[in-house]
Amino acid sequence: PITSLPGVVQHTRESLLAEVRELADLGVGAIILFGIPSTKDSIGSGAFDPEGIVQLALADAREAVGDRLVVMADLCVDEYTDHGHCGIVDARGSVDNDRTLEVYAKIAVAQARAGAQVVAPSGMMDGQVGVIRQALDGAGFGDVSILAYSAKYASGLYGPFRDAVDCAIVGGGDRKGYQQDWRNGPREALREVFADLDQGADMVMVKPALSYLDVIAAVRQAVDVPVAAYHVSGEYSMIKAAAANGWIDHDVVATEQLTAIRRAGADVILTYFARWFAERGWRPFDFQCE
Ligand code: PBG
Repeated sequence: PITSLPGVVQHTRESLLAEVRELADLGVGAIILFGIPSTKDSIGSGAFDPEGIVQLALADAREAVGDRLVVMADLCVDEYTDHGHCGIVDARGSVDNDRTLEVYAKIAVAQARAGAQVVAPSGMMDGQVGVIRQALDGAGFGDVSILAYSAKYASGLYGPFRDAVDCAIVGGGDRKGYQQDWRNGPREALREVFADLDQGADMVMVKPALSYLDVIAAVRQAVDVPVAAYHVSGEYSMIKAAAANGWIDHDVVATEQLTAIRRAGADVILTYFARWFAERGWRPFDFQCE
């Protein structure tokens, strides 16, 4: 169990199998896997090791559910690096964008080989989508799609996730060198979105969701590809904590927030409420908004 994400757990290979089968039965459309390696190193090599935990889990999940739900993999190194950054750190302690791209290319191929149908680069390195597309195509995985975390803000709302994946930036740095400044609205977000589409992204994502409904709406207006929004860990935990205190009605607020994200224009929502939502017999497209 993850204390700061009530109802969410770290899985073993075995418990994951049971979970994905149940999710497929419930009609959840897709899952996205994040890995926690037993050892971390400076380049995050566990992320592209063929025997790395996510590669094993991807293969397990595909075997368990086949094509009944879409199996996606988050593509980044922060869970796998001993320093906690989303990229390779240079001698000055800064993230080296271009050296990181070489690692991302290897991760993409390893994930595709293991059975990922969609890879989702979340590290916000410049040029990541193009390098990943080229690597996938070069390895014969032209049919693996890219869900690009295109407009990802340096948000305070990722706190519980970092507990979930045992990931803290050593020395107390932050991700403001590569994630977006939340003072910047759709203009910067759209530059990122169009750059990713030019490089071959199949779907684009805005993250977090609720504080960025304006960005979701602008992106939905500007592009023809599916737009995803990530309702992140802090957004989920705030509802859980307030509801546990009896301060808000859990089901009403969760429904209201997911509906708001859909109303803003998201076609796809990544949310820790997916299971709860599907258990009610709901499907995303039941939530049509004007
Ligand atoms: C980076 C990544 C993060 C999340 C998803 N992918 C953390 C970060 O950028 O610090 C956060 C997700 C959440 O808070 O739910 N690999």
